[in-house]
Amino acid sequence: MSKVRIYTLAKDLGVENHKMLEILDGLGVSYKSVSSTIEEDTVELIKEILAEEAAAAAAQPAQAETSSQRATPAPSSGAQAPSAPPSSQGAGAQTAVTEAPAATATADEVPHRAPVVTIMGHVDHGKTSLLDYIRKTKVAAKEAGGITQHVGAFEAKTSKGRIVFIDTPGHEAFTTIRARGANVADIAIIVIAADDSLMPQTREAIAHAQAAKVPMIVAINKIDLPQADPEKVKTDLTQLNLVPEEYGGDLVVVPVSAKTGEGVEDLLEYISLTAEIEDLRADPKGKFSGVIIEGKVDKQAGVLATVMVQEGTLHVGDFLVVGENYGKIKAMTDSAGARIKEAGPSTPVQILGFSTVPASGEKVQSAKNEHAAREVIATRVDVRRDEENARNRRRGPRTLEDIMG
Ligand code: GTP
Ligand code: MG
Repeated sequence: MSKVRIYTLAKDLGVENHKMLEILDGLGVSYKSVSSTIEEDTVELIKEILAEEAAAAAAQPAQAETSSQRATPAPSSGAQAPSAPPSSQGAGAQTAVTEAPAATATADEVPHRAPVVTIMGHVDHGKTSLLDYIRKTKVAAKEAGGITQHVGAFEAKTSKGRIVFIDTPGHEAFTTIRARGANVADIAIIVIAADDSLMPQTREAIAHAQAAKVPMIVAINKIDLPQADPEKVKTDLTQLNLVPEEYGGDLVVVPVSAKTGEGVEDLLEYISLTAEIEDLRADPKGKFSGVIIEGKVDKQAGVLATVMVQEGTLHVGDFLVVGENYGKIKAMTDSAGARIKEAGPSTPVQILGFSTVPASGEKVQSAKNEHAAREVIATRVDVRRDEENARNRRRGPRTLEDIMG
């Protein structure tokens, strides 16, 4: 045994990554990220420190464990660790630390929010199948009243908390939304079929994720196929300067099969881990802001818009402003089709109440009442007209000057 990655050790010992970094800082050990490796000697030191802390905590039975300050998104934080075989190494420190209750955040701290994940990749590499598998196994079947309206996003419940997936054709959603200056995705999953390796749209997807500066996780799919060659995918990635962790780089690569489900649990775990490192937070009590994922007209219901809540909380009855239009939320459903009255950060909701179809990627704001909504729009119209006029004025004389000059 030589070196070990920080997050692997954190997982093995059942402590949060932040806690692990704190200890390393205390020891004066340098690292680049939680993907960095540390020496075995350091591992031993860390175990000793944790064991001491656990002993100290045990001596004060009534005190809540404060070793990890962050409120984890999942109520079942640490639920994985106790299931590790008791004989696994470092068990002494492990049990003591993992039995600590999830520490509570101080009241003024902005709470964590669920990660929003988008799936991209080449045609037929299995994006939809992978999402379908996750949806089937991780989304409670609560299709209220049999409503199966397609919502361009869904929420998966995992042992590590909620994960929100954007379920529109990857590139399209990602690029149109980003082109309007909004970033909805926190993490990009690049799906690469193990029998096909890197293809043009895979490279495109990688470029999109890099341009958006969103962390990437590669899912090598279709590993159940006899002709699957995951090693080739890894080598090909390395040639793009994306070096998988097992080759000493930082890229997380998870082999999966959307058909058998193999590796999907690992993928979800890596998503949670990445989210934890990203430290995603949003205030449900803050001012509302969101983004349109998609808008459409339903023959029966009328205009429907899928909105991703990013900050604050939406309530039925709220007035929303999108571009130069506004609407009042008449009804709201969650991604499983159930009617809801309010929705907090990282929640995709379908909204009934707009009169015109909003475009993907448009930013959504709330207004106190109809009057306020109209005022916001009037200001926007004024600004736009001023800009148009200024542009037209500039265009006239300048062309003349250009000609003269
Ligand atoms: P587009 O939306 O057209 O870009 O394709 P996609 O990436 O969503 O791929 P999709 O999920 O539609 O899968 C394409 C084909 O591959 C289908 O026939 C799937 O059944 C098959 N497929 C997907 N994942 C797997 C897998 O893990 N194993 C095997 N054997 N087949 C798979
Ligand atoms: Mg598809």
